[in-house]
Amino acid sequence: MEKIETIGAMQQLARKWLLEGHTIAVVPTMGALHQGHLSLIDLARQHADKVVATIFVNPTQFGPNEDFDGYPRNSEADELQLQAHLTDALFMPTSKEMYPDGFETRVELTRLPLHLCGMRREGHFVGVTTVVLKLFNAVQPQLAVFGEKDYQQLMIVRKMVRDLNLPVEIIAGPTVRAEDGLAMSSRNRYLDIHERKAAISIYQALVRARQLVNSGTVDTIILRQAMTEIIEQAGANVDYVAVIHPESLEELNVVGAKAHAAIAAFVGRTRLIDNIRLKD
Ligand code: PAF
Repeated sequence: MEKIETIGAMQQLARKWLLEGHTIAVVPTMGALHQGHLSLIDLARQHADKVVATIFVNPTQFGPNEDFDGYPRNSEADELQLQAHLTDALFMPTSKEMYPDGFETRVELTRLPLHLCGMRREGHFVGVTTVVLKLFNAVQPQLAVFGEKDYQQLMIVRKMVRDLNLPVEIIAGPTVRAEDGLAMSSRNRYLDIHERKAAISIYQALVRARQLVNSGTVDTIILRQAMTEIIEQAGANVDYVAVIHPESLEELNVVGAKAHAAIAAFVGRTRLIDNIRLKD
């Protein structure tokens, strides 16, 4: 696996591969890799000749009171896992490389971030779209793989690609879950043993919403109440519970032909997100 730290060197390698006729897939990450990330690497491998993982804990997508400083960083373990999954290159730029002095460009969507996490994490998605576009420009991929756990992020990146005519196909990787249903997340490492138990309530709440929809409930007030109760009973705090249209991300009053449930909850100090398809 090649390890690359500069944008110039990454672009050079990408150009070489493209001239040789290879296709390139990128899996952007912030490191602290887990089975969810590795499943995205494996999915990328199915679609392209060369797979590039990126690890960059992007400061611009963290708010002032968020966990940028404490975000888990474990590059040695990450590298070993990427090697085991036959990743061709790891692009791991520094902050200075990505945001040199004088950097001032932002990529901003105006509608999709007005929901869910975008409402609670000001500026978060501007940070995400700006860095993702920069990573695409460095890696020159034909394909990029993003996890469905970060559903709003996936939809926002897809929209950016469409709006800006980027020649990159976005592939969605299904959420990978622990045996008890908890969605894999780098932030699960923050949980102590009691919080880990309480965290399961997020998935349980989503499953309950799906059961209610399957048995005929369409009123989203009832669905939101049911989800909130499960999370609060477990001792976690709801940041939001929402029933949304899966494309516009707008909140629904009534479950129609297409609906998704999405949750953000604080388990102790750790904010976790998850979502589930209710109807499609
Ligand atoms: O999902 C993540 O890990 C990050 O938001 C991403 C896409 C790597 C951008 O920093």
